[in-house]
Amino acid sequence: MVVVAAAGGTGTVGRNIAEALIAQANHEVIIQSRTANPLKAKEIGVRAIGTDYKEVSATRKILEDNNVHTVISALIRMPGTAGPFGTESHPSRRRL
Ligand SMILES: NC(=O)c1ccc[n+]([C@@H]2O[C@H](COP(=O)([O-])OP(=O)(O)OC[C@H]3O[C@@H](n4cnc5c(N)ncnc54)[C@H](OP(=O)(O)O)[C@@H]3O)[C@@H](O)[C@H]2O)c1
Repeated sequence: MVVVAAAGGTGTVGRNIAEALIAQANHEVIIQSRTANPLKAKEIGVRAIGTDYKEVSATRKILEDNNVHTVISALIRMPGTAGPFGTESHPSRRRL
């Protein structure tokens, strides 16, 4: 059974994705959150792993340590706050 991580799995979209995967019972599902959130994790029924997405090496290690095969990102960036890449306007996200 491969491990699938839902980044932003505490949110509306991420939680739906995590729950759909759990219902399929074909994958081991974990959620990634900026803060390990035991209550949410218990509610959803999976492990929640605290992840600081700005720390690339640490994030990679978390994925490796948990044997994650696939990450599904359902992160959001709120206006006026830094996004998951730590910048207000990441170059890859600029619209032409
Ligand atoms: N909701 C919809 O109907 C809908 C429809 C179409 C597309 N979308 C897109 O789907 C994505 C998720 O939407 P959503 O409604 O599920 O959002 P949401 O409920 O706000 O959840 C997104 C998750 O992202 C994490 N997050 C928030 N701010 C962050 C930041 N600055 N850096 C890193 N992580 C952050 C939070 O998790 P933690 O606090 O646990 O880290 C949060 O639970 C967005 O890109 C949105 O545009 C949503």
